[in-house]
Amino acid sequence: MINVLFVCLGNICRSPMAEAVFRHLIKEQNLIGKINVDSAGTGDWHIGHPPHEGTQKILKDKKISFEGMKARQVLPSDFVDYQYIIAMDNSNISNLEKWEKQGEPQFIGRLLDFVPESKIQEVPDPYFTGNFDETYELILKGCKNLLEKINEDYNLN
Ligand code: 4NP
Repeated sequence: MINVLFVCLGNICRSPMAEAVFRHLIKEQNLIGKINVDSAGTGDWHIGHPPHEGTQKILKDKKISFEGMKARQVLPSDFVDYQYIIAMDNSNISNLEKWEKQGEPQFIGRLLDFVPESKIQEVPDPYFTGNFDETYELILKGCKNLLEKINEDYNLN
């Protein structure tokens, strides 16, 4: 099983959006059982909360399920359990660098590292910008390219 963890600050806006979008793509490409996905936040304010209403709205509009999703914080064991730890912005990366880790994952980087042509390399935080559409479009592009890369790395198709 290939394990992918999306990380943001609160785990209610961006990383749950990425988790839901990525799981949707995994289903579309018949890769269930090969790739597992979860998300977590570096902050602890929203532990146990469902995705933000703005994230819920756009996922509903796009007919993407977020059933049962609840925020959690990053765990030291995530660094051994997940081969890909995918952050939304530079501050997530610096938080993760300082985190207590039980191991070193294969990859820690930003989602938009997989979209080199993008003018923006950090996913804007809609908790502050209010623009969930912009965030969704960037996350969708990043997730598509990440899945393609994992497919290539592991010869899944
Ligand atoms: P996220 O957005 O990191 O994309 O989930 C945020 C959600 C909540 C807070 C900050 C960012 N907050 O400060 O509560």
